[in-house]
Order: sequence, then structure tokens, then C-alpha cells
Amino acid sequence: MPKLDQFRRNVRASLLAAALLTLITACSSLFNRPAGTPADVDYAQHLWSVLQQERMVGEHARPLKPFIGAARPHGWVLEVDSRTIQVGGHRGFVVVKKNYNGDNLGIAEVERDRSRYLDSISVMFRREPGYDPDNQDWFWAQYKPGGQLSSMRRMGMEIAMAGRLIKGAAPDRNQGCIYCHSSAGGGDYIFYPDIIPPDAP
Ligand code: HEC
Repeated sequence: MPKLDQFRRNVRASLLAAALLTLITACSSLFNRPAGTPADVDYAQHLWSVLQQERMVGEHARPLKPFIGAARPHGWVLEVDSRTIQVGGHRGFVVVKKNYNGDNLGIAEVERDRSRYLDSISVMFRREPGYDPDNQDWFWAQYKPGGQLSSMRRMGMEIAMAGRLIKGAAPDRNQGCIYCHSSAGGGDYIFYPDIIPPDAP
């Protein structure tokens, strides 16, 4: 039955083409990852050490004024700090947000024992022009209290949460910093109206 043979050959060829295409897409998204690359991880570590020197994070961080935050995915009791810092050869504006978590957590408990409730630290830092021109050159990172990067699962891989996190609509909305922050009022990707970057484009 030559016709059936032909049909089978066609099916095999299209299956092979589809498999190849999937492989190529997977590879290219691996190499063109917007976030979590070794360079992003290095940069995030450098940024953390500057934030430590500035006493914005780490054991010797200056205590801030905690308040009750409302929005998911961030914590419930929050502290926010911002300033211009120097990372390598670049001076840029940074916003640090500390997320405290616990059952029925109140401000007084956090003030009494910050390290007990500190859950994660979300950071946005304005990098050099051209880093991410579509999104005002913000670099995003999510740290654990000790400075290690948090990670997330994408396409079956653990990806460190640092870099251009994430362009476009992320499948898991809770992780798309850019996706959510691009809707912040004022068009500067910052939700709190009282935080105004001095280098706003
Ligand atoms: C689903 C929406 C959403 C996502 C996703 C999100 N954020 Fe936010 N973020 C907010 C909102 C709303 C605020 C202000 C209110 C609050 O925190 O309670 C905020 C505040 C912040 C602030 C303080 C500066 C500001 O914008 O006011 C930083 C820094 C921050 N987020 C970093 C991050 C990082 C880093 C990520 C990704 C790892 C991230 N955010 C993901 C909604 C989001």
C-alpha cells in the first residue's frame, strides 16, 4: 500500500520536525534566558555586598519602620528603604523591601525580633542604560535573609531569581516582577508613590 507508506513517512517527518523545533526552542530559551544566568547571579551577589556595606541588609542593617503591606506576593509586614548606591562603575537607585511573615504577625513582634520573621528581601536596582531599555533598566532580585538568591522552577529547572525577572506575562504571576511592576502608577515601575528615583528617565 504505497499511499499508506507515504502517509506514515509524512507523519514521521512531521513528528521529527516538531521534536527538533521543541529542542531548538528549549535550547534558545536556555541561552537567551532573561534571568538567572551566571552573570545575573554574580551581579546579584555584588549588589548584596554593597547593600550590606550600606547597612540596608544583613546582620548590621539599620532598623527601619515596619508597616502592614497589603499586596501579594510580598510579605505581610514590610520595611522599605531606597537610595542611590555605587555597584562597580555604576551609580544607580535601589529600592529594598523586606518581607516579614508569621501567623497574625504584627508590627510590634517584628520590631522585637526582626531576624525571626524576616522571610525574604525583594530588590530592584536601576542598572546602566541599555541593560533592559524596555523596562527602564531595572535589575530584579529576590534574596533569602542570609543573602542567598531565592529560586523558582521554570521548564523543569531551578532558576535563581536575579536579572530581568520576567519579561512578558509569566505563567506563574507570582514571580513576574516586571510583569506586575510595569502596571505601577507613574510609569516608573515603583508602586509606593513616595519613592521617587532621582534618575527617572
Ligand atoms: C503580583 C504583583 C507583583 C509581583 C509579581 C511583584 N511585585 Fe513587587 N510590589 C508589588 C506591589 C503591589 C508593591 C507595593 C505594595 C506592597 O508591597 O505591599 C510592591 C513593592 C515592591 C518593592 C518596593 C518598591 C515599590 O515598587 O513600591 C520592591 C523593591 C519590589 N516590590 C520588588 C519585587 C521583586 C524583586 C519582584 C520579583 C521577584 C516583585 N516585586 C514581584 C507587586 C508585585
